Amino acid sequence: MALGESMLASLLPILSLLLLRGQGCPTACRCYSMTVECGSLSLQHVPPGIPPITQTVFLQDNSITQIHQADLAPLSGLQYLYMQNNSLWALEPGAFLGQQQLLELALNRNRIHLLNSSIFKGLDHLRVLYLAGNQITRLLDFTFCYLPRLQELHLQENSIELLEDQALAGLSSLALLDLSKNQLSTISRDALVPLASLQVLRLTENPWRCDCALHWLGAWIKEGGQRLLSSLDKKIVCSEPPRLAHQSLLDISGNSLICIPPTVHVEPVEATARLGDDLRVSCQASGYPQPLVTWRKVAQSRLGLPRASVRLVGGPRGGNEGSLGEHLASDTGSGMLSLTNITMAHAGKYECEASNPGGSTRVPFQLLVNLSQQQPPRPPPPASGAVSREPLYEAGSMDFRALGAATQTAIAAGISLLALTALLLTVMICRKHRKRKKAKQEESVLYVNDYSDGPTTFAQLEEYRDERGHEMFVINRNKPLFPTYEESGEGAPPGRPGLVPSSETLQDQGLLFQPQIAYEIHC
Ligand SMILES: *[C@@H]1O[C@H](CO)[C@@H](O)[C@H](O)[C@H]1NC(C)=O
Ligand SMILES: *[C@@H]1O[C@H](CO)[C@@H](O)[C@H](O)[C@H]1NC(C)=O
Ligand SMILES: *[C@@H]1O[C@H](CO)[C@@H](O)[C@H](O)[C@H]1NC(C)=O
Ligand SMILES: *[C@@H]1O[C@H](CO)[C@@H](O)[C@H](O)[C@H]1NC(C)=O
Repeated sequence: MALGESMLASLLPILSLLLLRGQGCPTACRCYSMTVECGSLSLQHVPPGIPPITQTVFLQDNSITQIHQADLAPLSGLQYLYMQNNSLWALEPGAFLGQQQLLELALNRNRIHLLNSSIFKGLDHLRVLYLAGNQITRLLDFTFCYLPRLQELHLQENSIELLEDQALAGLSSLALLDLSKNQLSTISRDALVPLASLQVLRLTENPWRCDCALHWLGAWIKEGGQRLLSSLDKKIVCSEPPRLAHQSLLDISGNSLICIPPTVHVEPVEATARLGDDLRVSCQASGYPQPLVTWRKVAQSRLGLPRASVRLVGGPRGGNEGSLGEHLASDTGSGMLSLTNITMAHAGKYECEASNPGGSTRVPFQLLVNLSQQQPPRPPPPASGAVSREPLYEAGSMDFRALGAATQTAIAAGISLLALTALLLTVMICRKHRKRKKAKQEESVLYVNDYSDGPTTFAQLEEYRDERGHEMFVINRNKPLFPTYEESGEGAPPGRPGLVPSSETLQDQGLLFQPQIAYEIHC
């Protein structure tokens, strides 16, 4: 409209005059030179009207809850932004997209609990980021990947319990990383790899779990890493396991930092269900640290196709990440597989996997679906010849369970062979065990682990002994003494009646070990 345009045209000179005179100062704030001060004003939003040429903005001690994309967009020359002690919990992705010149960003003492990498997009020159005193619980992969020039990252006094391996990726200029006063129980070596310029690392006051996964840290600090830690910062105190509580990681010898690989017990190992049934299968895993338990359905690969698998549940950290349609659900943490309204699609092989830094163990479970009857009580059909005519389906492989006598004999022979193999292996292990016993002339525990420096004596494992003082015998399953499930299962030639397989092998293995494990930590 002509009228609107002319009005705007007549307003423009006035607007620019205001800006030139430096009158563009937000209400109640103080503006001088290129600095705007709006601290302690009970502000609930970033105030509008901050002059675009501003370089420094003080907004601390207010009640601002969010930063929207539009809030800072005009401030392309901003170099310092202080927003500590507000109530920030949401930072819109792209909130700092226009702040290419920003050097320091203070967001400490707010209520931030989730950091999304796209929040930091645009901060190409940021050098210092204060995030201390928030409520951050996890640092996910690539969170800081848009901060190539960051030199200081202050994350102390949060509740960080998970630092993913790639969480610090891209921080190649970082000189200081403060993770003290968080909830970290472990940290992987990989997580620190991207930090090529690191000079100061603070890890104190976290509830460290001094097990095999932290072995590297002790060794690393003793070797070269100590230049990164001041004498105070070296006090990395263990919270767990109890026998190491309150000790400093540096005072503990490498072979005391142990893990116990998971043992898994699935109950039942096989089940036959009718259509519409509900079924719960328990998977109890023990080990140290407490294993993460996952159920998955194993799709059979009959034609040499890659074996697809579906993750069902995570353990403590899981969620219902991915499920097979709506059919499958499971409790998190307890290791319970819970199937409701069973259909044909449920039939097949499942696997419960338990893993911890000491290794991982998988135990199969097989579900057969009895199609012969869909509604409950109906008298069994009158004698019509063969006893076992009901088609017992296994969806994945489409194999019928009703097998000819010859096949059954073959299977039986295969199983006996496997049992014999297992027996032989037991004997081998026992002999090995005895040998060690003699050699060490100590209490008899053989502990084999990639991370530890060698066998660990029972004295160091004492807390894992039960009341009756049962011996413990732990094998690292990362070094397979037996063919693994993968090897024996996948390698099977396609088309072979897939029944004797891997699953039995694994069960035998499980049985083989179970009686020897005297201590169990249940999920
Ligand atoms: C935080 O800000 C509030 C006002 O919102 C103020 O009363 C309080 O003293 C500040 N806390 C600190 C530690 O500065
Ligand atoms: C981060 O934000 C982007 C954009 O809003 C979104 O697509 C992405 O899923 C978020 N990532 C996480 C881990 O929340
Ligand atoms: C069970 O599944 C069948 C077929 O999908 C469906 O028709 C039926 O309503 C389901 N029953 C319950 C109780 O969900
Ligand atoms: C299948 O169901 C029918 C009817 O309930 C039953 O008679 C039969 O024993 C079942 N078969 C198996 C193998 O459980």
